[in-house]
Amino acid sequence: MTILGIESSCDETSAAVVRDGALLSNVISSQFFHTAYGGVVPELASRAHLKAVIPVIEESLREAGLAIEDMTAVAATQGPGLIGSLLVGLNAAKGIALSCRIPFIPIHHIEAHLFSPFLHEHHPAFPYLALVVSGGHTLLVIVEDVGRYRLLGSTIDDAAGEAFDKVAKMMGLGFPGGPAIDRRAARGNPNAIAFARPLIDSGDYRFSFSGLKTSVLYYLRDRAVDGVLSMNDAEIDDVCAAFQQAAVDVLTAKALRAAEEFSLRDIALAGGVSANSGLKETLRVRATDIGRDVFIPDIVFSTDNAAMVARLAELKGLESAAPSLHAPAFARITDTLFHEHS
Ligand code: KG4
Ligand code: ZN
Repeated sequence: MTILGIESSCDETSAAVVRDGALLSNVISSQFFHTAYGGVVPELASRAHLKAVIPVIEESLREAGLAIEDMTAVAATQGPGLIGSLLVGLNAAKGIALSCRIPFIPIHHIEAHLFSPFLHEHHPAFPYLALVVSGGHTLLVIVEDVGRYRLLGSTIDDAAGEAFDKVAKMMGLGFPGGPAIDRRAARGNPNAIAFARPLIDSGDYRFSFSGLKTSVLYYLRDRAVDGVLSMNDAEIDDVCAAFQQAAVDVLTAKALRAAEEFSLRDIALAGGVSANSGLKETLRVRATDIGRDVFIPDIVFSTDNAAMVARLAELKGLESAAPSLHAPAFARITDTLFHEHS
């Protein structure tokens, strides 16, 4: 079976080809111009997807050494994400399905993240725990099998990556803020400031990052002179390190508690924030201490990409093809796939 996957949920246009478990290509075109606006501008994102989608698909076929006629099926992200962006990839996939008379497999974006570790030979075994941390989502999920998920908890306000982006913005570190905070945190002292660790002892698996963001805001405000931030580089490094450690402590504590409560040996980390060196290191060390295995995909498979879309489509099989081409795009996460565990 050969599958073409397409992903365009936010600011990455991507197409990938998977054949019998092997990834043949994964082309990603990133929209760097959003940096100038300090965040993703939805209307500009969808226009950029329109320009990129066909060349990106063509490039992915070229890299795979295959033609569109060689595809058994085509898959695309249906949601959640930016609706205008999703529509571009989704309609490109539907057009291919129609003209090549092949099945169309709609893919849930978060579900695809859950399976990004399956792009590596060494991947977790069912049931495993997945911590999805991205710019838009923070979820702790038990992956029992393909299509069988138990949502343990998610964020009640900001997503983890969103908190990194907002805190970076407060200090003028650019967008996206996660990588900048990560770099500076490596030079700073994580114990310099005791920031809040919201819900760390809540006993459940809900997350909250807006309180942490606000405590950083108050800290910075107290150090501003006439409304202007007046801190030297070393002090900014300390704020980054202390903020990052607070976020990492919460994410790690909840993931490890879940692994123990539900007796799960394998823990997968996915989504853009899984690139964070502090998170990777802390989770690996603390998980190993309690006999858990941690699986962190390569960064190209962690941030938004079509490889995970094509791979999940393959795992789901042709039975998951849409009965008609009416499958709509959706912006928000629905609770039909991820049932909250009580
Ligand atoms: O999964 P992703 O590429 O896109 C979404 O689906 O949102 O995640 C993007 C997020 C951004 O918030 C970005 O700041 C964050 O991932 N991120 C990081 C790092 N690299 C990217 N956060 C912390 N540390 C990093 N090294
Ligand atoms: Zn994502």
